[in-house]
Amino acid sequence: MGNDIDTIFDHILTGKSLFIDRDVLRNEYIPDHILFRDDQISQLAQILAPVLMRSKPSNVFLYGKTGTGKTVVARYVLKKLAERTAQHELNIEFVYTNTRIASTPYHVLFEVGSQLGAQIPFTGLSMSGAMRRIFERIGASGTNIVLVLDEVDYLVKNFDDDLLYDLTRPNADIVGSSFISLVGISNDLKFKEYLDPRVLSSLGEEELVFPPYMVGELEAILSDRVRLAFRPNVVADTAVKLCASLAAMEHGDARRAVDLLRVAGELAEREGSDQVTTDHVMKAARSIERDRVYEAARSLPLHAKLVLAVVTSSNNELNTGQVYSRYAEICKTSGLTPLTQRRVSSIISELDVLGLVNAPVISSGRFGRSKKIKLVASKDSVIKALREDDVLTSLLS
Ligand SMILES: Nc1ncnc2c1ncn2[C@@H]1O[C@H](COP(=O)(O)OP(=O)(O)OP(=O)(O)O)[C@@H](O)[C@H]1O
Ligand SMILES: [Mg+2]
Repeated sequence: MGNDIDTIFDHILTGKSLFIDRDVLRNEYIPDHILFRDDQISQLAQILAPVLMRSKPSNVFLYGKTGTGKTVVARYVLKKLAERTAQHELNIEFVYTNTRIASTPYHVLFEVGSQLGAQIPFTGLSMSGAMRRIFERIGASGTNIVLVLDEVDYLVKNFDDDLLYDLTRPNADIVGSSFISLVGISNDLKFKEYLDPRVLSSLGEEELVFPPYMVGELEAILSDRVRLAFRPNVVADTAVKLCASLAAMEHGDARRAVDLLRVAGELAEREGSDQVTTDHVMKAARSIERDRVYEAARSLPLHAKLVLAVVTSSNNELNTGQVYSRYAEICKTSGLTPLTQRRVSSIISELDVLGLVNAPVISSGRFGRSKKIKLVASKDSVIKALREDDVLTSLLS
C-alpha cells in the first residue's frame, strides 16, 4: 500500500498522471457535445421555447432506462435557455432538482424555494405553507418558472403525487399571470401507474422517449470523453471498445460506459501503468459490480437482509419453504414478529430483481410450484454489507 501511495504521488508530481481532466468523467459533467440526442434536444427546446415569449410551455415528461441521457439533455437545454434569458433580460427562472437526492416532498420545496429566493425554513412549515411561499414569491416578482423534477418516480413511489398535483395547479389568486412549467424525468415508465389520472394528464402533456444506446453510439460517446479526460494515446482502442460493449450488454447504459472508463483509468494509474488496457476494464467491471452488490445489500430493509442472510449462509439451493422456516426461526429466537410467507416470497423476488439471488419458479409435481433460490452475487460483498448492520449482526450472533 505504501508503495501504491508513493507511485500515485510520484506520478502526480512528475506530471505523469494518465489524466488531463478527470472531472470530465464525473457523472455531473455536462458535455459541450451531446451525441445521438439531436431529436430529443430539439424537441425539448421546441416544447420549452414559448417561455421566451412569456407563454406557458406544456409540461413534459422524459423517460427512458438508466444512463440514456435524460438528465444530461435536460440540463443542457436548460443551460441554453438560461443563456438566452440572460441576454434578453427576461424574468424566467430555471430550477433543477433531483427528488431522490432531496429525499422528501418538503425538501423538494425547500430546494426549489432556495433557488428562487423564497424563504422556506429547513423544517417547520407545512407542505401547503411552503408551497404558498413559493407561489407568493413567483407572484410578487412576476417570474415564470421552468422546473425540472429529476427522478420524480422516487417521490411518487415513496410518498404520493400530491406535490405534483399542487405544482400543476398553482393558485391563480397568488401567482397572478406567472406560471410553472414542469419537466418530469423518470427511468421507470411503470411509475405512471402510481399517478392520479389528473396528474398524469397534466404532467404528460408531452412525452419524450430516450432509447438505449447501441454499442457503436457508446463507443463514440466514450471516444469524445477519452480525448478530454486522458493524455493522448493512453487509452487503448480495445479498452474503449470493451467499455462500450460491456455497457451495451447492460441495456445501452452510457453511465456504465463512462464509469468503466473512469475506474479503469484510476486502476491503471494506481498500478503505475502508462496505458489503460482491456485488463483494467475487466478489473473495473468486477469492482463496479462488487460496489453495486454491496450498495444494494446495504440499503435493504431489515427483514430483506434477514432473508438474504439465510440464502447467503446456505451452500445449497433452498426452496421457498426452507428459506421461510429458517427465517422464521431467526425471528422467533430474537423476538421479532416474522412476516408472512407470502411477503417473504415477494422479498425473494425483489432480491432476484436486484440481481442478488437467482430464484426461478419451478414446478415440483404434486407439491405445486416453488422457487429454487441461490445467491448469485459476490458472497464477500454481501457479507460485508450485512455485517455493517449492527441490529442484524446482534440478531444473528
Ligand atoms: N448522448 C450523450 N453524449 C455524451 N454523453 C452522454 C450522452 N448520454 C449520456 N451521457 C453521459 O452518460 C452519463 C449518464 O447520462 P444521464 O445522467 O443523462 O443518464 P440518465 O438517463 O439521466 O440516467 P438515470 O435514469 O439513471 O438518471 C452521464 O455522464 C452523461 O454525461
Ligand atoms: Mg438521470
